[in-house]
Amino acid sequence: METGQPSRTAYSAARYRAAHQVIDGGAIFADPLAVRIVGEPPDTDEVPGRRGQRLFIAARARFAEDALAAAFERGTRQAVVLGAGLDTFAYRNPYPGLEVVEVDHPDTQAWKRRRLHDARIEVPATLTYVPVDFEKESLRDRLAARAGAFFVWLGVVPYLSRTGFDETLAFVAGTDRAEVVFDYAMPTASMSSERRTALEARAARAARVGEPWRSSFQPEEIAGLLNEHGFGEVEDLGPAELAERYFGRPGVPKDTPGGHVLRARKI
Ligand SMILES: C[S@@+](CC[C@H](N)C(=O)[O-])C[C@H]1O[C@@H](n2cnc3c(N)ncnc32)[C@H](O)[C@@H]1O
Repeated sequence: METGQPSRTAYSAARYRAAHQVIDGGAIFADPLAVRIVGEPPDTDEVPGRRGQRLFIAARARFAEDALAAAFERGTRQAVVLGAGLDTFAYRNPYPGLEVVEVDHPDTQAWKRRRLHDARIEVPATLTYVPVDFEKESLRDRLAARAGAFFVWLGVVPYLSRTGFDETLAFVAGTDRAEVVFDYAMPTASMSSERRTALEARAARAARVGEPWRSSFQPEEIAGLLNEHGFGEVEDLGPAELAERYFGRPGVPKDTPGGHVLRARKI
């Protein structure tokens, strides 16, 4: 991220969620605050390259909030949104007694709080803000996560160094009965040249705004890491499973490389 500036990719992800409400009618992920928090009308031009990213961002949010609903039913009473960006869950939180903690880079969090004020979105008493730079500070020093906490960690892993990723995952894993949802990118080397070119163009745009992609994983590597950290239940959706579950497109080959979203729980 550029020093003193909020995350530009957080703004971009929020614009995709807003566009999803308008273009797709929120079919995958309905978020009544998505347009308001962005503060300007979403770009509704249907650009082919952007559709896939818009649906992926909608699907990962839907997957996370469905898993959080199930966790609440099982007794979870704390949700921690890591790298929250303009995520609006905390302002729509329908669960009585669920405390939400938003953790983000200080510059992004300060900008979000101004955006909320300008959009007249009320900050509920159940929400706490914790400013943290994952690359420079330890979550351990800043956050008291409760046993059974549910961590939402969307759109962040690709931007972290391997150390930043490992330390954050270790913190989550060190929380008794924790559950986490995060998405990750696969190395572009395993992709078709057309897909690789499109992704490399996106990576270059992110790098130009100071947010280079720094981490990617093969699914087997992630599975091994989660296993080492004691996550006994893992549900990892790759392009084939996401297409079938959320995009109404069964039949995508199982080993198609691309973005993954997963849920891991310590049981
Ligand atoms: C692509 S945005 C995703 C935001 C949000 N989770 C979403 O899905 O819309 C990346 C987020 O990661 C945060 N982030 C990136 N690097 C970080 C770091 N070193 N420490 C804390 N937050 C960081 C940014 O501030 C931003 O909110």
